[in-house]
Amino acid sequence: MNEDIRIALTGFMGVGKSSVARHLSQMLRCQRVDLDMFIEDNERRRVAAIIDADGIDHYRSLETQYLQRFLNESDATILSLGGGTWTNAANRDLLKAHAFTTVWLESTFEHCWLNISFSRKDRPLARDKQSALKLFEERQKDYSLADWHFIVRSGLTSYDVARNIVDEIFS
Ligand code: S3P
Repeated sequence: MNEDIRIALTGFMGVGKSSVARHLSQMLRCQRVDLDMFIEDNERRRVAAIIDADGIDHYRSLETQYLQRFLNESDATILSLGGGTWTNAANRDLLKAHAFTTVWLESTFEHCWLNISFSRKDRPLARDKQSALKLFEERQKDYSLADWHFIVRSGLTSYDVARNIVDEIFS
């Protein structure tokens, strides 16, 4: 098992990035950080509150600043990104420069939407189904630039997905 590999999880909102990251960090016994939570802890505001009050462009620039800060300061080797982080070329370059391997958790829109609907997390960019679907379709090309692709579907738990990732990447 190669313990040096750093993993960043990307994929659409509701696909389960944070849960898979939690299992990965337990399986690999390494630290993990959730980028949204890292931002919220430091800004002392919810991501949704930042987007609603200051706009998406402001949030995107904060996201890049905090990604940079995480990459410079943290020892964590598992990172769950926000659903839009990887779609920004500057963020992709930062992750590559810090030798993070990216994993796309790939799923159908309906699967993500079901999770979004049942989740307590407020997601300003997914408050209505039509705009969320549009975003989902626009982003597929960017997500597909990730190093690894793993399918997420109903019937597979986040534990199963993490197990698949460990088996494939770390074997
Ligand atoms: C976003 C996804 C959210 C959060 C923000 C914007 C996006 O994270 O970063 O609301 O642009 O897809 P999750 O993917 O964890 O929901």
